Amino acid sequence: MSTLYLAPRFLEHELEAELARRGLHVRERVGRLFLCEGKAAEVIWADDVWVDVREVPVESISKAAAVLREFRLPFVHFSERNHRRGELIAGQLKRQPVERLHFGEPLAKGPWGGYSLPSPDRMWISTQLRAPVPLGEAEFHENKTDPPSRAYLKLWEAMTVHGIRPVRGARVLDLGAAPGGWTWVLAHAGCEVLAVDKAPLEKTLARHRHVRTLQESAFSVDPEAVGDVDWLFSDIICYPERLLQLVHRWRDSGRVGRFVCTVKFQGETDWDAIDAFLAIPGSRFVHQYHNKHELTWILV
Ligand SMILES: C[S@@+](CC[C@H](N)C(=O)[O-])C[C@H]1O[C@@H](n2cnc3c(N)ncnc32)[C@H](O)[C@@H]1O
Repeated sequence: MSTLYLAPRFLEHELEAELARRGLHVRERVGRLFLCEGKAAEVIWADDVWVDVREVPVESISKAAAVLREFRLPFVHFSERNHRRGELIAGQLKRQPVERLHFGEPLAKGPWGGYSLPSPDRMWISTQLRAPVPLGEAEFHENKTDPPSRAYLKLWEAMTVHGIRPVRGARVLDLGAAPGGWTWVLAHAGCEVLAVDKAPLEKTLARHRHVRTLQESAFSVDPEAVGDVDWLFSDIICYPERLLQLVHRWRDSGRVGRFVCTVKFQGETDWDAIDAFLAIPGSRFVHQYHNKHELTWILV
């Protein structure tokens, strides 16, 4: 059995290192695609995972399309090489579109299959793709005027793709909030936001009726002074160990229910920190499409 792992753009080295760390043997790599032997593993640095991959010969466009049509599924074509040939095959299939998402709206209903041509005469096929959106490409119809920063896309993605649903009226902390992309999302979702940053929040947002601000270090905020909160969001730029200490402090206080935190890395991934976060029961990491060299840690 083989599995394909699709690396996030420009983070191929992270996926490669993770596969090695997990003892997975890469049989063939084509650009962002890593074909490994064995069953699909839980891998963090992947945009998509294709389970039970079959390799079939491509004798002609029409024969390849006929093979795929037998599965009676729509297919996405992941085009890393042999683009034109792969697209000619797609022209003879029901295609699963890779479309922009609308914030908060339901995702495309699966299942869909995937194929890619590592060489002109071979095709990799899977009918079990793990990413909740085709190829993990969570591009949105963006709001280019209102949010004070593009960081809002990370939270849009967490809320639309990863099941993070703070409800209207929820009390939420936004740590490392400036200039205010996440606060903007949360306030417009009707949450009561306490936005904490050493830097100021964008002025209009700071006056929003659902927003209060604290201009100080997030590490000095006392859970007892804040009281109960439903969600703790953090996008603070800091070392992972420091964030972990903050998470423990808030968990130990019993004042917070759920967490969504960006864990940022400088240089190499800090696997000790990842393991320490994952030791917190019920938590998980995802590499979101809008994460750069960082991961999103979720505890709900
Ligand atoms: C990536 S930005 C956050 C972007 C924000 N989530 C948004 O949507 O606009 C990281 C923020 O962490 C803040 N930061 C760094 N150290 C901090 C600290 N000790 N306490 C609070 N904020 C801190 C920075 O001032 C910066 O605004």
